[in-house]
Amino acid sequence: MGQSAVGVHKLAPEIGAEITGVDLSQPVGEGDFAAITQAFHDHCVILLRGQQLDEPHQVAFAERFGPLARAVNRNSGLSQQYSSSFLISNVRENGQLIGALPDGEMLFHSDQCYVERPCMAALLYSIEIPSQGGDTLFANMYRAYETLPQELKAKIDGAKAINIFEYNEEGGYGDAAMDLYPQIPPNAKHYAHPIVRTHPVTGRKALYVNRGMTACIEGLARAESDEILRRIFDHQERPEFQYVHRWRVGDLIMWDNRCTLHARSDFPATERRILRRVTVLGEVPA
Ligand code: SIN
Repeated sequence: MGQSAVGVHKLAPEIGAEITGVDLSQPVGEGDFAAITQAFHDHCVILLRGQQLDEPHQVAFAERFGPLARAVNRNSGLSQQYSSSFLISNVRENGQLIGALPDGEMLFHSDQCYVERPCMAALLYSIEIPSQGGDTLFANMYRAYETLPQELKAKIDGAKAINIFEYNEEGGYGDAAMDLYPQIPPNAKHYAHPIVRTHPVTGRKALYVNRGMTACIEGLARAESDEILRRIFDHQERPEFQYVHRWRVGDLIMWDNRCTLHARSDFPATERRILRRVTVLGEVPA
């Protein structure tokens, strides 16, 4: 392994690190890549600021972490060459959205927790940002699990929860999953996963439910399931587990989708927000 000039600087006490000394428009050497990977596992979310990142370079960097997931939501002007990237944007051209997940606030969630093999990571690069709001909030689910009261840990030990995602007509978010259940809309994907999963690299346990997409705990009566889930949601969203990212143009953020949740704050509908996302395939949570 080569020498590395990479710097790692914490962004918040429990989650996130800024990586310095890396220019992703140039080839990243093995030593630097190993340091970046270590920071990713240590801090769950990494930030590289001031990057001049075109689509091929973003895709090439993401591919070093593993095979990429095909984007399902490619209603964008991006080239057809890279089936793994898509835009997140509220911009409409000729009445058509150029990206997915367009408008406003999004509740805390984990990407694709409603399919059998959710992604392991996402890399989000900012191209245009509004003058206020549109922050992305990240929360550390290792720490949320570790600090959960013992009696609550005992209640969820070995249990699974059903996660649902309802796209609205614009490819954005529908209602919170608990409010949908027990009706599962025909357009909503759903899958049951362990409430606590073990990270395949770090071996640490992480909470794997969220307010945006988790509907119920399998095998429990509705009232009991709602009560347990609401307690977990309130606990896992505590500010001390979070890093709130205020975007600047040229930021690349990569998050570990297996041990974090993320959410988005509201932003003015009159302002443009464009980010490019590439997603790395994951494993079946266990
Ligand atoms: C996402 O959930 O992937 C989108 C995050 C954002 O728009 O800030």
